[in-house]
Order: sequence, then structure tokens, then C-alpha cells
Amino acid sequence: MENKLRQIKSYGRTVAKALSENQKNDLINYVNSFDFDTFKNNYKKFILEIGFGNGENILKLATENEEYGIVGVDPFKNSCIKVIRDIQKLSIKNMCIFNDDVKNLDRLFGEKFFEKAYILFPDPWPKKKHNKRRLINEDFFKWLVTKVFGEIIFATDNLDYFESVLEFASKYVNVKRIEDGDQLIANTKYKQKAIAEGRKCNYAVFCV
Ligand SMILES: C[S@@+](CC[C@H](N)C(=O)[O-])C[C@H]1O[C@@H](n2cnc3c(N)ncnc32)[C@H](O)[C@@H]1O
Repeated sequence: MENKLRQIKSYGRTVAKALSENQKNDLINYVNSFDFDTFKNNYKKFILEIGFGNGENILKLATENEEYGIVGVDPFKNSCIKVIRDIQKLSIKNMCIFNDDVKNLDRLFGEKFFEKAYILFPDPWPKKKHNKRRLINEDFFKWLVTKVFGEIIFATDNLDYFESVLEFASKYVNVKRIEDGDQLIANTKYKQKAIAEGRKCNYAVFCV
């Protein structure tokens, strides 16, 4: 992957407050014991969620699609620890979590590896001077298209972000704007926040 994709961080902190020893151990034990090669061999089809946050959508994907390997990537440690604990509590077998920036994982996933990829309510970076920190820019989108052969599902309550992504996406994929996309995804924390604060959720499906 080209270096320029990695230069600007699309996230702020990677941890909210000091982690307890138990939290640190849960993350370390998971990372040390997870064997991605075995996981890859166990499934024929894969779905990716980038920036899964509290995990509402990725947990739903895993329980409703047991024949798929579900891959989640998030650099935020608290999110990863929460979801790792949920995986253990619910005895979910078909999920794999990476505590990282998705842009660092290029080599792990081959070309056209994922049938679907979800990016739900990515950090909006609403101030014009911060727009360049948005995860989905044209270079990132072109890269993601190389990894997916089916659909990319995108939701945001920031209309400016939404329209800018749809504009460049249409050069590479078939863009479907979904007017009532509520059923497309789970009730994630940021979807609920948008609704509670009266912001419209915008949904699109990009057919690769
Ligand atoms: C605003 S939250 C949305 C969380 C969740 N998708 C939801 O709808 O509630 C954005 C999430 O994207 C993650 N994120 C930001 N940059 C990322 C990157 N480069 N790779 C993977 N995840 C990223 C953040 O850590 C955060 O968990």
C-alpha cells in the first residue's frame, strides 16, 4: 500500500483512560493466541467491518452469518477489549478482531478477499481544516475496492462527508443511495446518537 494512505491518522486517541490490568491482559491474551491463518482456512467467505466501535453491528453480523468469517478492525483499545469480551461471553467462533488502523493490514488480506465491507459512522472530522483526516478519501476508497468483490456499505450522519464520498466513489463502483437504510445495519452507538440528536442518517451501498 502506498505510504501516503498511512500518513494522516483518521482517529484521535487509541485508549479512553488507563486500562486496568485485566483489560490489558484480555487484549494481550487475545492477540497472542489468535491464529489468523487457521481462521482464514476455516471459512470460504469473509466480511469486514472497519471501525466497529461498541460492536453492535459486527456482533450481529457474526451471529447471523455463521458461515462467514467476520473480520473487525479498530485502533481504539477500549472497543477491542469490549468486543473481545462479548465474543467470549457469546462463544462466537467466526470473528477475528484487529486492534489496528485498517491501513496497516494491507498484506493480511488478499485482493478481493471480502464479500462485503462495512464502514458505519466513521469519525466525521467536520471542520474544513480537519477534512483531510477523514478515513474515506479517494486513495483509501480505491484501495478498499481492491479488497472487496461484492458490496461496501457506508453510513454517516455528516452530509458533506457522504456527498464527497459518493462523488469519487462513482468513478470506481456502482453507487446506490439508500433512502431508508435503517434495516441495512444494526443500531450502532453512533447511529443512535445521530437519531437522538435529530440528524439524518445517510446510507449508501457501493457495488464493486
Ligand atoms: C465515530 S466511531 C463509530 C463506531 C461505530 N461504527 C458506530 O457506528 O457506532 C468511528 C470508529 O472508527 C474507528 N476508526 C477510526 N479510524 C480508523 C481506521 N483507520 N481503521 C479502523 N478503524 C478506525 C474509531 O476508533 C472508532 O471506533
